Amino acid sequence: MDHLKTGMTKIGIFMEKKKFFVLFFFVCVVTLDIGSIISGHRTTFYYLRSYLQDFKSFSNDSSTFSSNSRKNNSTITILWYAKQGYFSGNVNLTGCKFSNCILTENKTVLEKSAAVLFAYRDMWNKVPFKKRGQIWVIVNIESPAYDVDLNRVWDNKFDWSMTYRQDGEIFLNYKTFRRTIPLKKNYSEIFKNKTKYIAWAVGSCQTRSRRELYVRELRKYINIDIYGDCGKVPCPNRTLPGCHEVLSQKYKFYLGFENSLCKDYVTEKIFHTFLDNSNAVYVYRGAPNVKSILPPKTYIDVNDYENPKRLAEYLLRLGSNESEYISYLKESDKYHIDNEQNYYRSLCDLCELLNTYKTKNLKWTGKTFNSWYRQNVCVS
Ligand SMILES: *[C@@H]1O[C@H](CO)[C@@H](O)[C@H](O)[C@H]1NC(C)=O
Ligand SMILES: *[C@@H]1O[C@H](CO)[C@@H](O)[C@H](O)[C@H]1NC(C)=O
Ligand SMILES: *[C@@H]1O[C@H](CO)[C@@H](O)[C@H](O)[C@H]1NC(C)=O
Ligand SMILES: *[C@@H]1O[C@H](CO)[C@@H](O)[C@H](O)[C@H]1NC(C)=O
Ligand SMILES: *[C@@H]1O[C@H](CO)[C@@H](O)[C@H](O)[C@H]1NC(C)=O
Ligand SMILES: *[C@@H]1O[C@H](CO)[C@@H](O)[C@H](O)[C@H]1NC(C)=O
Ligand SMILES: *[C@@H]1O[C@H](CO)[C@@H](O)[C@H](O)[C@H]1NC(C)=O
Ligand SMILES: *[C@@H]1O[C@H](CO)[C@@H](O)[C@H](O)[C@H]1NC(C)=O
Ligand SMILES: *[C@@H]1O[C@H](CO)[C@@H](O)[C@H](O)[C@H]1NC(C)=O
Repeated sequence: MDHLKTGMTKIGIFMEKKKFFVLFFFVCVVTLDIGSIISGHRTTFYYLRSYLQDFKSFSNDSSTFSSNSRKNNSTITILWYAKQGYFSGNVNLTGCKFSNCILTENKTVLEKSAAVLFAYRDMWNKVPFKKRGQIWVIVNIESPAYDVDLNRVWDNKFDWSMTYRQDGEIFLNYKTFRRTIPLKKNYSEIFKNKTKYIAWAVGSCQTRSRRELYVRELRKYINIDIYGDCGKVPCPNRTLPGCHEVLSQKYKFYLGFENSLCKDYVTEKIFHTFLDNSNAVYVYRGAPNVKSILPPKTYIDVNDYENPKRLAEYLLRLGSNESEYISYLKESDKYHIDNEQNYYRSLCDLCELLNTYKTKNLKWTGKTFNSWYRQNVCVS
């Protein structure tokens, strides 16, 4: 699959299946930047903490997820009902802190599932029966700027969210971790090998964030080579991480420009800077709150510069100051992204919450999914 053509590559998720094999999920998103903007009618998609309402009758339920059986750690079934292709439905969760969850894609267990997962982009208008007390979880890692409202048939259905948003119940996105074993690199050799200024690999030429206009302006002051479908040259490697890594050897800077500018929406476009073999300083344009998400001094935030001209001036200065330039590389090399753990960690968090939510003081806020997830979170 051509990642650059289809839009972007998402979380690369490794899952280890203990006795069997190592699966590598390359998360690749189909079509987002394109036609998804068919504007549907507005719906109010209530984001109810319905378990609070259901709680009263919950113990009347003799099914597998009575409050009693949870206390003694009986098995909790999590069903992937509407799964996006790039998530695995077959992950062994026995290594989680709470080890009593089973993930399945087999819809015959809908009845006895404690939690049911729906990926935003794979939900159709046929809503299955929702059993009382069941927790329905809406999953999304894409930008709300490229989503349409869901059909009203989904109103009142969801209890929790599993998204890149930091203020949802379950967080699903990249995360940086400090390295325990430092990378050994000859930074001055890396610097000396660089012959060019800025690389940008990009598949969607017109975006909500209007990054293309920013780049057009920036190009007046500094040289930018564009790879992928919007440039003249194809990416040197067909995988997006590979492309980033290869380009990061020759170029001093790499543009990580999101397709939309939304709170918390920080994607692989910048997280690839924490790959072992990434040797360019990334220039980021995206989430306005990126500073609360990424470690400082590991990247350059476009927002810190008045305009493209000022940014270009800084990049030219930084790119010719070896020690200052290298300090960015060294700083970002202190971190890594743990692809192996990403999705797995989120599923473990979900399992933990399923085991403990009744003792947590989660209150139904009455907010709707649309207003929480889609409204006022993107500046473009
Ligand atoms: C509660 O239990 C009673 C008796 O077992 C049953 O008749 C009733 O339908 C149950 N209510 C619900 C909401 O499941
Ligand atoms: C959970 O514990 C209760 C009481 O201790 C017991 O009646 C019930 O059978 C147990 N459930 C499971 C699934 O082990
Ligand atoms: C349930 O599982 C948790 C975590 O695995 C453990 O700490 C707790 O002691 C278990 N409770 C019972 C009743 O077995
Ligand atoms: C899951 O992993 C545990 C521990 O590694 C293993 O004992 C168990 O058999 C595995 N379950 C499945 C269904 O593969
Ligand atoms: C789904 O589960 C049912 C009942 O447990 C089983 O008969 C069926 O073979 C399963 N389907 C798949 C695809 O595993
Ligand atoms: C780094 O590479 C340069 C050649 O580019 C070499 O002169 C220098 O000795 C190397 N430094 C280390 C610590 O290997
Ligand atoms: C620098 O470039 C040379 C020649 O292409 C290559 O052999 C060497 O591995 C590069 N060094 C680094 C640190 O990238
Ligand atoms: C492309 O990149 C991937 C990931 O870094 C790497 O495993 C692969 O060898 C690369 N392929 C080529 C042709 O360079
Ligand atoms: C490079 O940057 C450092 C730190 O900001 C500064 O002290 C130094 O003067 C700069 N060197 C040049 C040649 O501009």
